[in-house]
Amino acid sequence: MRLAAVLLFLATAFATCQADGYIEQVTQDIHLLRPRMGAAGYLLQGVNCLSWRLAVETNNIRNWKLVPENCEQYVGHYMLGKQYRKDCEIVANTAIEYAKNLTLSGDGKDIWIFDIDETTLSNLPYYARSDVLFGALPYNNTKFDEWVAEGRAPPVPGSVRLYRTLVSLGIKIVFLSGTAERFREIRTSNLKEAGYYIWEKLILKGEADQGTSALVYKSKRRTELVNSGYRILGNMGDQWSDILGDNSGDRTFKVPDPMYYIG
Ligand SMILES: *[C@@H]1O[C@H](CO)[C@@H](O)[C@H](O)[C@H]1NC(C)=O
Ligand SMILES: *[C@@H]1O[C@H](CO)[C@@H](O)[C@H](O)[C@H]1NC(C)=O
Repeated sequence: MRLAAVLLFLATAFATCQADGYIEQVTQDIHLLRPRMGAAGYLLQGVNCLSWRLAVETNNIRNWKLVPENCEQYVGHYMLGKQYRKDCEIVANTAIEYAKNLTLSGDGKDIWIFDIDETTLSNLPYYARSDVLFGALPYNNTKFDEWVAEGRAPPVPGSVRLYRTLVSLGIKIVFLSGTAERFREIRTSNLKEAGYYIWEKLILKGEADQGTSALVYKSKRRTELVNSGYRILGNMGDQWSDILGDNSGDRTFKVPDPMYYIG
């Protein structure tokens, strides 16, 4: 019974992954997860993990530092299983429906803002590692930067499909990310490899912005865009700090991320 569940789980993970190189690492880590039972919020030592996830997705719980220790397996199952993919796809579908219905100006100033990490590129192969545990272990800047520098992040489910639709409609793409400027080259090639082949701007965080919170930094950059004549038709992120603040856009879309919080 258990073996069958593990095999099914692995098959699902394989079927949904798009690149090859990182699968082995993820697979090794999946074994450590040892699936136990259903993915739906069973009670573990007083924390209901589904309730916790809902509360973080709705921004009711804020400024949390770590995934609760007893929800590590729950978050792992969620992220590697079908539910996360379905949750992402429905966001993309809704955004596509919205975008197709827009009346565009045709002057090249209609833009769509995408965050990068966990919105267009997925760091799941990194987060699934046994030394990261889906965000249940403290964030290690050095280690995460090493992963980013590899440039092997696969796309987030549904996001390339949305991206392609937006491009075909004539909406210009702006990536607005908290990634440091020094990663521009590797991020550019990673984005292209993942299927994002063209954009109007790729805005990364420069030295001068390093101490600034994501919310303030992103508000500032969006305001600059609006001041130079762009209209933000849509804005998509995995963090509330991507979609709150000034000039957040005509419509915002939130993709799931129960692994970390950026204020
Ligand atoms: C599409 O646009 C029409 C007219 O502006 C509006 O009535 C309708 O609600 C829109 N549909 C969607 C799915 O946004
Ligand atoms: C963070 O990761 C680096 C690189 O793997 C390691 O050398 C360092 O000890 C880690 N720091 C902590 C606090 O775990």
